[in-house]
Amino acid sequence: MRTSILTAVNRHAWDRQARLALPGDRPMVPGRVEWTQYPGHGPGVELFGEVSGLTVAELGCGNGDNLAPLTVKDADCVGVDVAPGQISRARTRWGHLPIRFHCADARVFLARTRPLDICFSIFGAVGLCPPEQILPLISRHLRPGGRLIFSVPHPRWLGPRRAVMRLADGSWVPVARWTSGPQGWKAAVTASGLRCLRVDPIDTPAGDGICCLLVHAQKPGRSAVSDSPSDDCKTFQTRPNRPTARQATATRGGAMTGKTGHGNPSTSSAPRPATTTPGSPITPLQEGSHDV
Ligand SMILES: C[S@@+](CC[C@H](N)C(=O)[O-])C[C@H]1O[C@@H](n2cnc3c(N)ncnc32)[C@H](O)[C@@H]1O
Repeated sequence: MRTSILTAVNRHAWDRQARLALPGDRPMVPGRVEWTQYPGHGPGVELFGEVSGLTVAELGCGNGDNLAPLTVKDADCVGVDVAPGQISRARTRWGHLPIRFHCADARVFLARTRPLDICFSIFGAVGLCPPEQILPLISRHLRPGGRLIFSVPHPRWLGPRRAVMRLADGSWVPVARWTSGPQGWKAAVTASGLRCLRVDPIDTPAGDGICCLLVHAQKPGRSAVSDSPSDDCKTFQTRPNRPTARQATATRGGAMTGKTGHGNPSTSSAPRPATTTPGSPITPLQEGSHDV
């Protein structure tokens, strides 16, 4: 299926998701960076290292909740999302903070933007676009020494949910994902010209399997971007770290049921059950387009 159709499929899915949540949105207080499907679980903003004065772009920013904590660290923040409803949500929640939100396909944004110090994607455009398209664009538009960090659901955790997403009104919409295990992502990152620093598998809070992969990459060369804080990254918790009441209220706003769209647990510890037969085979990256 053609890429433009798959992009339209994803835009439609996440636009509908956003429009269902939008009436409950209001200005928020920055909370925690959530790299996993489980709020309060796994690493947080420390993964970025020192970001003061650096241009940081989130590709597939959704409601913008993961960018807000970076403004507290004085990063120059840019959020990009292909779904107009998501950008409306982000502006409603974070319009009072210095974040530039753009409604665009991440590939189009990357082709036009000035050089970036850090790109990140949390279940966002990396994993929802063909990797052979988006990764080379990121590689080209990062400054020398610039970093890419992204999280993607582990294919086994997603199971059949890789092809569909359940919305708050109970309906199901198709989505197109590109999934793989650690070796597939490492190869895709390396083929784009970036150096793959490491791929960290993250356990579920219950410890019953890997929920997502956290990929760290760097553009060869030197820059102001600090090296990946690898020691911090290796010591993050793999057990639930419950958010404070303020974080829970600030980051979720009562409008979100977990990280809807990631495969979607509705609480911090229990992923939403799959409703179709579990145990789909791992999809190689290059075959992601058969998902719809
Ligand atoms: C699962 S949501 C994640 C949102 C956010 N990163 C978070 O963690 O809450 C995926 C987001 O990626 C966006 N997206 C999908 N394909 C995209 C693309 N090609 N360019 C930009 N955004 C895209 C969707 O519209 C959606 O908002």
